[in-house]
Amino acid sequence: MTRTVAVTINGATFEREVEPRLLLSDFIRHEAKLTGTHVGCEHGVCGACTVQLDGTPVRSCLMFAVQASGHSIRTVEAMADGGSETRLHPLQQAFHEEHALQCGFCTPGFLMSLEPLIPALVGASDDEIREAIAGNLCRCTGYQNIVSAVRLAAKRFDAQHGTNGSATGPE
Ligand code: FES
Ligand code: FES
Repeated sequence: MTRTVAVTINGATFEREVEPRLLLSDFIRHEAKLTGTHVGCEHGVCGACTVQLDGTPVRSCLMFAVQASGHSIRTVEAMADGGSETRLHPLQQAFHEEHALQCGFCTPGFLMSLEPLIPALVGASDDEIREAIAGNLCRCTGYQNIVSAVRLAAKRFDAQHGTNGSATGPE
């Protein structure tokens, strides 16, 4: 028996008849054809499958697609501004500049986990940043460059939005 699932992904509605056991990660990759969401461990450990459900990062391998019906999902594909000259999201740009990826398999999950946290990470210590990324595993980078990218993204966010008052200019 199948069930109807209707979810909004990156602003577009996807309605499909699916098996109740279909994972959200498989719905995103195979039904919506958005393969930027990666699947690693498939049991909630690696974080590669992280997407945002109504703005909150979730592991899409730990949810059934039917549980997401009626909700709004954001995936890594929504981050860059895909005009004629694609402009990266500031967090993606920071990852690029700080060499925070090698194979890139883990990267969409890191980006989806970190994006809502950047305002809270302005001025964070390395330990605090490492705590923020503790739910995502990377087999390549050794993490230091990811920490540097998060620090750069938070600094730029602060410069733009003045979350700690530093954007108000020299005293
Ligand atoms: S694939 Fe979902 S947490 Fe690893
Ligand atoms: S860049 Fe390869 S797993 Fe993270």
